[in-house]
Amino acid sequence: MKVAILGATGMVGQYLVSLLQGHPWFETEVLAASDRSAGKKYREAAHWIHPSQMPSGIGEMEVANSDVKSVEELGSPDIIFSCLPSDIAGGVEEEFASAGYPVFSKAANHRLEEDVPLIIPEVNPSHATLVDFQKEKRGWQGFITTDPNCSTTQLVLSLFPLVQFDLSKVMVTTMQALSGAGYPGVPSLDANANVIPFISKEEEKLESETLKLLGEFDGEKIIPAELKLSATCTRVPVQHGHLESVTVSLEAKPSLEEVKEAWASFEGEPLKLGLPSAVKPIRYREENDRPQPRLDCDEGNGMTIVLGRLRMDPILDYKYLCLGHNVVRGAAGEGILQAELFKAKGLI
Ligand SMILES: NC(=O)c1ccc[n+]([C@@H]2O[C@H](COP(=O)([O-])OP(=O)(O)OC[C@H]3O[C@@H](n4cnc5c(N)ncnc54)[C@H](OP(=O)(O)O)[C@@H]3O)[C@@H](O)[C@H]2O)c1
Repeated sequence: MKVAILGATGMVGQYLVSLLQGHPWFETEVLAASDRSAGKKYREAAHWIHPSQMPSGIGEMEVANSDVKSVEELGSPDIIFSCLPSDIAGGVEEEFASAGYPVFSKAANHRLEEDVPLIIPEVNPSHATLVDFQKEKRGWQGFITTDPNCSTTQLVLSLFPLVQFDLSKVMVTTMQALSGAGYPGVPSLDANANVIPFISKEEEKLESETLKLLGEFDGEKIIPAELKLSATCTRVPVQHGHLESVTVSLEAKPSLEEVKEAWASFEGEPLKLGLPSAVKPIRYREENDRPQPRLDCDEGNGMTIVLGRLRMDPILDYKYLCLGHNVVRGAAGEGILQAELFKAKGLI
């Protein structure tokens, strides 16, 4: 299938370009960005900061504007990945969906709308068919589907295997990498040797998206999970990899070994379906000084979250550390895995 990437010159867009190289099902056909980049060659428009080299051939592609007409002038894609900033993503994604395209969005705009899926393929793959209601309700041939905020994805992956133990309360404090703010992101004088104790709208996203992701799909709508969740989000001088300190109440009071076993045995539908980007989603490390962003965020090609330091908590019940690659598991890789899930389910 042919793919167009909107926001292809940005942080998430570059990772998508790189991860789609050699993909067995998807091929990059159109790269689009703002009118600052449109008309330029990709290698001139993108300030390349991905650790691997820009894939050969891609650099010579012309960049389109991020609208239907400009994209269709450069190709005829089957699906759209939107890596646009939220101040413009909402309207642009609707324009593509109403023109008949399946849109896989990284942006926050549509995540909480009742007819729009918010998906982590290992957690709530059944929510994908919500797009059928969306198409009917909005009269679209295409649709919009979304994946969560980067700090939410890794948290929910770690929580999902614990739902069986009657998960009732969650407190999380995040230490989020600079790449989560895109490029050029946080000014160096603010970021260097410092901690910034606020990320706009991040705590609200963690608290609301988690309830939708862990909610029940009754065939027409998602009934949010009943869970108390409190988040504090900070930005730290780390390149990639959000680290989260998580404390939970589990009413069934499992042993520490039972919690670890729940994480170790968790696989999810992508591995069972044999999706190309599927990996074991969780690794638990026993060492007291792990996980660390620099050492662990590339685990499983960046798609495996790494947990550690599980111990009892005197106020809630259990506490642990959770690490995920924000750009791969939290955005680009997650979007590709979701598109693979939709293809396997015959939704695209
Ligand atoms: N970074 C992460 O870890 C992460 C994780 C999860 C979700 N997200 C979400 O993913 C999206 C992209 O984030 P990012 O970190 O990749 O941001 P970024 O590095 O700032 O990239 C933004 C991209 O959007 C394009 N763009 C900006 N304004 C535009 C406009 N008016 N019209 C058309 N294109 C425009 C830029 O093109 P030009 O180069 O031409 O300006 C660039 O390609 C955001 O919604 C973000 O919240 C990011």
